Amino acid sequence: MKKILELLSEEMQGYFEKAGYDRELGKLSISNRPDLCEFQCNGAMAGAKKYKKAPIMIANEIAELAKESTLYSKIEAVSPGFLNLQVNPAIFKEYLEEMKNAPKYGVEEAKTPQSIVIDYGGPNVAKPLHVGHLRSAIIGESVKRIARFMGHTVIGDIHLGDWGLQMGLIMTELQERMPSLVYFDESFQGEYPKEAPFTITELEEIYPTASKKSKEEESFKEAAMEATFKLQNGDRGYRALWQHIMQVSVADLKKNYHSLNVDFDLWNGESDVQDRIPGMVSYMKEAGYAYESAGALVVDVKEETDTKEVPPCMILKSDGASLYNTTDLATILERMEKIKPDHIIYVVDKRQELYFEQVFRCAKKTKLVGEDTRLTFLGFGTMNGKDGKPFKTRDGGVMRLENLIHDINEEMYRKITENRVTSEEEARKTAQIVALSAVKYGDLSNQAAKDYVFDVERFTSFEGDTGPYILYTIVRIKSILAKYREQGGNPDIAALQCPGSVVEKELMMSISNFNTMIASAFEEVAPHKICAYIFDLSNAFNRFYHETKILTEEEEMKKAGWIALLGLTRDILETSIDLLGFMAPERM
Ligand code: ARG
Repeated sequence: MKKILELLSEEMQGYFEKAGYDRELGKLSISNRPDLCEFQCNGAMAGAKKYKKAPIMIANEIAELAKESTLYSKIEAVSPGFLNLQVNPAIFKEYLEEMKNAPKYGVEEAKTPQSIVIDYGGPNVAKPLHVGHLRSAIIGESVKRIARFMGHTVIGDIHLGDWGLQMGLIMTELQERMPSLVYFDESFQGEYPKEAPFTITELEEIYPTASKKSKEEESFKEAAMEATFKLQNGDRGYRALWQHIMQVSVADLKKNYHSLNVDFDLWNGESDVQDRIPGMVSYMKEAGYAYESAGALVVDVKEETDTKEVPPCMILKSDGASLYNTTDLATILERMEKIKPDHIIYVVDKRQELYFEQVFRCAKKTKLVGEDTRLTFLGFGTMNGKDGKPFKTRDGGVMRLENLIHDINEEMYRKITENRVTSEEEARKTAQIVALSAVKYGDLSNQAAKDYVFDVERFTSFEGDTGPYILYTIVRIKSILAKYREQGGNPDIAALQCPGSVVEKELMMSISNFNTMIASAFEEVAPHKICAYIFDLSNAFNRFYHETKILTEEEEMKKAGWIALLGLTRDILETSIDLLGFMAPERM
């Protein structure tokens, strides 16, 4: 379906052409002075130079020609040369009707669907999830949903951090606590137990203890490095123990992500590509890309146009060990082989920007990817507390994701039960749904790259630019529709009418921008555009609602028209929040 601006522009472009000017000049934009007009055309200003005429003269000519238009109900040339327009209200009725019947409410799917991999989440196995991982999960999930909605083939890959020193730390601590476990017995030949020798709760305590010890005792750290080395080089017992850590930890991660309404198509990790590293390294050496520098193996990635220094990409350390870089490059190799993506998007903390710049350049230079494969780094800012410093617990520790979610759920529960009596069970369920909207909307409504303040008070408020406000609007619409049904009406067959008031026309205009907005949210990888849009749409709806007595209207056609408009507003809002990764309850 054409975008509303394209549709409205066509006629104007015709007038420019008729008057002997460039067609392109006739493009309309949404007015930045809504008090004066709904749309504007700045073509006369833009064309003045080329046609050596005063802009106002061009604008007057066009306004004269456009007098006959039935599309524009008012057109005015104003100094110094703008064209201000008001649009025939009937257009919106037609446009919305078409939207209602079109697939995806008029959002056109990509003509040539791309294959896109989104690398997001990135938790580190056996380390507790913290709020830094929250942003990657929330943003990545939304980007994935938007791209899918646009008709692309999208694969979400969690890219577990499952191969690092944390594994050696845990194993060393386990060995200190339970030295007689068979995993540490080098002469053991039999089958290892199926059950892990620890629970998730124990694991959650083991890692921080071990991490602390490694900072205090040099010998512990060395033992942990040794254990990591053994694991990475295929020690049977360590591998078996690693399997247990993975099993227990991944099950817990799945539970956590599930409660965030985040899910991944691939649960691959750093460990999955280790076998590819030796081959990749020799290829890079043989092809002359990688060379030795101070014992380490590196690939130069600086470019002439660089304004800041971009250090070489290190492929192997001087002791021959692989690094974070090596694994990311091997992962690109694997993805190209198995998925052949046109585009890989990484949703990672923006502090890793330079690192990804090196990796991307290295992947291009060494031809792991072709020139036309896009690699995008979507870096996000820090989630801060009210004090402007990275979000912490009350006693200054790292805030665990689970606790944060728990706190918000409690706050929401308190708010929901404050003024209403619902069953305990329903209140708990609703609180969870609304709390998720508070967290996700609070995050997504900011441009990803910006830092933001996680303000529980503000995010959980039912008023203002918040998730709960959007849900409240949806629930309000649902309740009116339900009452209409109780009165014997059927919202499903209600037909839209021409807008009869300014607020109604504004609501319809807002709805008509849906496909335009989604396309740009996708183009710019910018979920915050969806938030801004649904906030506007909710405001337009609530203004309309406060000025219109819907259910007591006596003219049946009129009432039905409003009901149809409400139904469409709800559909657009619900589709939008689904793209953000949350949903609305039935009541709240
Ligand atoms: N595990 C990493 C961390 O916690 C994030 C992984 C990001 N993705 C990647 N392909 N490197 O910092």
